[in-house]
Amino acid sequence: MKTRWYKNAVVYQIYPFSFMDSDNDGWGDINGIISKLDYIQELGATAIWFSPLYKSPDYDYGYDVSDYKAIDEKFGTMEDFDRLLAECHKRDLKVIMDMVINHTSTEHPWFKEAIASPDSPYRDYYIIRKGRTKEGKILPPSNWESTFTGSAWERIGDSEDFYLHLFCREQADLNWENPKVRNEIIDILNFWLDKGVDGFRFDVFNMFSKVYPIRDDDSKDSFQKGAPYYVDGPRMHEFLKELNEKSFSLYDIFTVGESFHPSAEDARKYVRESSGELDAIFSFGHLDSDNIGGKKFFPKPFDLLQFKKGFFDPQRAAYGEGWNTLVLENHDNPRCVNRFSIDVRNYRYEAATMLATVMYMGYGTPFIYMGQEVGLTNCDFKNIDEMKDPVSHFVYELMEGYGMPKWLVFRFIRYGARDHSRVPIAWDDSVNGGFNKGHTPWQCVNPLYTEINVKKDLESTRSVYRFYQKLLRMRKKHEVAVWGETREYDHENRRIIAYSRTNRDKQLFVCANFSKHTTSYKLPDDVKKYKIILNNYEMLGRNGQKVRLRPYQAVVLRF
Ligand code: NOJ
Repeated sequence: MKTRWYKNAVVYQIYPFSFMDSDNDGWGDINGIISKLDYIQELGATAIWFSPLYKSPDYDYGYDVSDYKAIDEKFGTMEDFDRLLAECHKRDLKVIMDMVINHTSTEHPWFKEAIASPDSPYRDYYIIRKGRTKEGKILPPSNWESTFTGSAWERIGDSEDFYLHLFCREQADLNWENPKVRNEIIDILNFWLDKGVDGFRFDVFNMFSKVYPIRDDDSKDSFQKGAPYYVDGPRMHEFLKELNEKSFSLYDIFTVGESFHPSAEDARKYVRESSGELDAIFSFGHLDSDNIGGKKFFPKPFDLLQFKKGFFDPQRAAYGEGWNTLVLENHDNPRCVNRFSIDVRNYRYEAATMLATVMYMGYGTPFIYMGQEVGLTNCDFKNIDEMKDPVSHFVYELMEGYGMPKWLVFRFIRYGARDHSRVPIAWDDSVNGGFNKGHTPWQCVNPLYTEINVKKDLESTRSVYRFYQKLLRMRKKHEVAVWGETREYDHENRRIIAYSRTNRDKQLFVCANFSKHTTSYKLPDDVKKYKIILNNYEMLGRNGQKVRLRPYQAVVLRF
């Protein structure tokens, strides 16, 4: 029986590589996570999503899985995981596993078998096609591009065959048309559910279904060459319904899909309760408001109207029919206080708390990425060699190949790099920010750790963590914050974001100044009498119907 507990949940995301290294070997680990569970619970989180803990050769740091039923040695053992699960449940923290099933690692036994012989039954687990011969050269079967740059096809040895990989070449796409593949996946899901986990986050789920036969993408306006043939493919809804029938619906769980530029219509269908597919998806439209065309490495001046659209559209679409998620950061994005044209040097506390207020008063389940709750900032990387993410390197090479000067290329990469959120958490100002006892971490520590760290935040009178606690307590106390309908006000205002939440006779009004300039805002006529229930400043200036919002000030009013 579904209880839909996830609607009241607050999810904390852990990227295990960088959370806490208990055995001082340079890698974060499960025992390190266990030592911090009280910290997560006290924040007000009620669930944890673990980025992949499975066995992986780490070409894409865990997102290339070589055994879905084993814990990677660097993180611990299956016994450690079982203990982690029990310790989470003891604290009423639900456990959400990351499921990376659009592709497997090329070191997965299925893939090794598949390429060992053209007659292998595993051949049909992947998308393998003959190349095209042109002027004596063997070319890929289509012009599709990988999300991580370059062709999406890799040749298998000297043969004429290629396999599809929409990400790294070490991540081979699975053939979801093959019922055997789907059965294997259902078996993996149920293996974890039988252990007692409480849900899944599905990696790039809307790429599972592709359009066949494979063909070139000749359209001029594709986000990425081939995307029309591998995003929201024709069998997507059918595949999700099958997973739901044979797995999700048999347990009381939460399923959330990470989508890759879904169409509005498909996005709606994926989460509509009556569809029987997923409970929610992540929509990232608002996170594209400071880059060009959704390409993270190409900055543009922040566009608040675009942010608002990306934030409100999914709430409007899901309301009453399905559920939504609320996200500011994850392991694929830089830190939020360094974005959106924010003056982080002077207003880190104000901006961190304003962004949290705006985001988590919305309709949907809050997702908080580790370190965000203390306002951690981007890493002060000095050169590309300090970055571990393969994507930073691929894009660096690509831009350099176009003849751009190195310093400019590095500036772009530094702007959008996923590495920023992947450096070890700065717990305190001791060696390596307290991530471990001094062994060189797999990824450099942010040199700012002596200034910005968890301990310092908790000791401060302006603690971001304490503000998050207050905000989450308030969300829990006022049901309207969870269930209310969202209505946006003054869309065209380029400094202020404002909206109300309404549930029966209960109403909240949220407004925030997204700029570093004190800004007046005229409250809507119906917000005459109100009580301030959250404010990231001590005071709120008021003159009749007008309020004066200080730099990055955010308030929640009950009216
Ligand atoms: C989305 C994940 O969040 C990202 O980290 C990963 O690189 C790709 N999918 C490929 O699995």
